[in-house]
Amino acid sequence: MSGRLVDDNPAFTAYAPNITPAGPVGSWSDADLARAIREGLRPDGTLIGPPMPIGLYRGLSDSDLAAIVAYLRTVPAVENTVPPSVYRIALPPSWGPPVDHVADVPAGQTIAYGAYLAGPVAHCMECHTPMTPQGPDHDNPGAGGMVFNGPWGESVAANLTPHPEGIARWSDADLARMITTGTRPDGTQMLPPMGYGYYAQAKPEDISAIILYLRALPPRPTPERP
Ligand code: HEC
Repeated sequence: MSGRLVDDNPAFTAYAPNITPAGPVGSWSDADLARAIREGLRPDGTLIGPPMPIGLYRGLSDSDLAAIVAYLRTVPAVENTVPPSVYRIALPPSWGPPVDHVADVPAGQTIAYGAYLAGPVAHCMECHTPMTPQGPDHDNPGAGGMVFNGPWGESVAANLTPHPEGIARWSDADLARMITTGTRPDGTQMLPPMGYGYYAQAKPEDISAIILYLRALPPRPTPERP
């Protein structure tokens, strides 16, 4: 998809660029494209702004990053010119030092693998960790509360910590069904931008590793709305 208005808020108006081979990335090398995804840095030296979750993508393993680049090269070319994003906040000088090498996290039913999936791969924690003016609230990972406005109206990211206001209410089977179908045990359907349509394609054992990780988060109440 290209030309899509991703977010329009007081801080920025962000459009998702054309990342098919017909867009700017078509003339970039694989290394350029990999650096843009994992470090948020374009070949011309400019920084990619939010809501690209570069903080999470910095943890993508070399082999997963290479697979993403290889896949993007196979996407059909679509001609589409996209307006530039406008940032009314100052972007930092960089998202951090260069990332030269990230080792694979061995797949399995471990909290470490669940953390890798819920972070860099499926970026659950991008939406479900509260946002402060200084960035993600790392003291309250997964506590929810971030508000999303769009054509659907308003949705609020749920609390995914093992707190009574969070996932303590759900069994593992409930959670797996919620994550992959967007339907809660009471039959109500979740609103966008929760990405259950994508997570429906995840391997069941990957979903259980994510749940294992969520159950190990520090239990936190959902933050008060500002
Ligand atoms: C782009 C933002 C976004 C991402 C990424 C995301 N979510 Fe969500 N999620 C939401 C929003 C918003 C809601 C609330 C939807 C609603 O209330 O209609 C939600 C709801 C949920 C719920 C429902 C909980 C409840 O108590 O109702 C679960 C479970 C959940 N997400 C888990 C996950 C997991 C696990 C991942 C990663 C595999 C993930 N989410 C990725 C935005 C996101």
